[in-house]
Amino acid sequence: MYDPSTMAQAARLLRTAREVVVFTGAGVSAESGIPTFRDDQGFWREFPPEQFASWRGLVQTALWRPRRLAEFVYAVVGPIAAAQPNAAHRAIAAMEQDVAVTVVTQNIDGLHQQAGSTIVREIHGSLFEVVSQQGKFLHLLSRRELLHMAKKLNRAREAWFPLAHTLATVRPLLGVGRRGIHRPKIVLFGDAMAEPAWSLAQEECRQCDLMIQVGCSGVVWPAAGLPLEAQAQGAKLITIDPHEGGGDVWLPGPAGVILPALVESAFGRRMEG
Ligand code: APR
Repeated sequence: MYDPSTMAQAARLLRTAREVVVFTGAGVSAESGIPTFRDDQGFWREFPPEQFASWRGLVQTALWRPRRLAEFVYAVVGPIAAAQPNAAHRAIAAMEQDVAVTVVTQNIDGLHQQAGSTIVREIHGSLFEVVSQQGKFLHLLSRRELLHMAKKLNRAREAWFPLAHTLATVRPLLGVGRRGIHRPKIVLFGDAMAEPAWSLAQEECRQCDLMIQVGCSGVVWPAAGLPLEAQAQGAKLITIDPHEGGGDVWLPGPAGVILPALVESAFGRRMEG
């Protein structure tokens, strides 16, 4: 875990910052019960990205291994539907009381907004936003609707015809309707980044004087380039991650412990861990 002098250095950077970008990956939601992608129990270990991380791969899996697709859809929707913001999300939201904060997230789980963050750029999209095939906004799903869907998907996995049950269950999220195909606004491998979030995020990362990177492996581009763009403009970089760090200050440890301690150390604001 971190040592007090490192925390004090990070707190000084946060306390004196003018504009902060908090850049988050799957690690910030790990303590909300949503698996990360590349950790030992990571999502891609169970569902190899070449089969599941592109629309083409998903269609092929649906045709050749329908039950695996049903298991995949449940594995994505279930944890996100059941998740609640954790202490890390709440600490990031609380920062807004003391400094200008923009959240740039690779996550599609909506937990930053639910925790109270007001400026959130979802650069890989959102599982709650449904768009047309051309990407035109159609409607938002509530977490309650997603939870109801997850319960039915849990049964679909065991059904005689898992694909038929799965497609019928996810129809509000993914399917063919009066206006053609509709799908969740999520960015899979090979897709363009979500707009206008991506353009706004790039600009805000160039403007900030402090970036706090939380729970990102930094291996997926172009998102992984954002910390470099911020540093190239002179921003300081704090990384929060139990396994790997970098930048000007690395605070090793889980986000749900580190971020409340950082906000308390920087602003004297008591945060529950
Ligand atoms: N607190 C903070 N960090 C954590 C925690 C935790 N409790 N648990 C794990 N981590 C760290 C891991 O050490 C790792 O560095 O979170 C990071 C998660 O990395 P990935 O699983 O690769 O997730 P992410 O970086 O968000 O992946 C980026 O890849 O597959 C695509 O679209 C997907 O948005 C995703 C992108």
